[in-house]
Amino acid sequence: MNATALTSRRVVTTVRGMPASDGAGVKLNRLIGQPALDMLDPFLMLDEFRSDQASDYLAGFPDHPHRGFETVTYMLAGNMRHGDNQGNSGRLRAGSVQWMTAGRGIVHSEMPEQEDGLMWGFQLWVNLPAKDKMTAPRYQDIAPERVPRMAPADGVELRLLTGRVGEVEGPVTDVATAPFYADLRLDAGAQWTALLPERHNAFVYVYEGEATVGEGEAARALPRGELGILSHGETVTLAAGSQPARLILVAGKPLNEPVAKYGPFVMNTPEQIVAAIRDYQSGRFT
Ligand code: CO
Repeated sequence: MNATALTSRRVVTTVRGMPASDGAGVKLNRLIGQPALDMLDPFLMLDEFRSDQASDYLAGFPDHPHRGFETVTYMLAGNMRHGDNQGNSGRLRAGSVQWMTAGRGIVHSEMPEQEDGLMWGFQLWVNLPAKDKMTAPRYQDIAPERVPRMAPADGVELRLLTGRVGEVEGPVTDVATAPFYADLRLDAGAQWTALLPERHNAFVYVYEGEATVGEGEAARALPRGELGILSHGETVTLAAGSQPARLILVAGKPLNEPVAKYGPFVMNTPEQIVAAIRDYQSGRFT
């Protein structure tokens, strides 16, 4: 036993998604923010949307508000148009990431810009600390070309949305919870050990194939559709077996603050939720 060995993370719990519907009836798979996993501080929600049936996504997400947290959209396939009540708009395509800090309030829409074909991606909700909940809204709209692609090990392709791998830093920066978010593809038999901030909460979600997470006897296989919550530690080892695997690895600094949630508003107290609803209804999200 080497006294200086890094502590490695392992899967402590696994969660399967729950079919859900949101926006104007978009069908999705809810992984975080459901009875089996209410939240994983600072992550409030994780949805995977994936369908090649236009009727599952055409209705989109018409105008709706957010206050008190951040929404992160990462597209694997398809095209989505985004617009808000402050005149911001943009198009998300395969490989795009949008990190939106709703702060004190935004009203926006996310609508499909295609009438057929595959629409696939993730939306993650990241909480803001109490001191930042009423900050000015901010967008980090990152085109696919700006997401660094790396090969940290043989047979491993990594796209780094935010956080650090070696000397490379992801394009999304200055986020309160110091998150790490990477999209990985492992060829059959490939393996890589990631370094993560030791006390960050972290999860792995396998969206294609099957991956093994953890080292030695603690290693556990995660099939497609299963989210693995990781123990704390400095490293996590990911490996593919006889088939390639694709997965996201996400980590963030827990806030350890009270959470009051009501639909698209996430604050610290019920009184702040009442204020958010009042402000929204009286048109003060501008
Ligand atoms: Co939204």
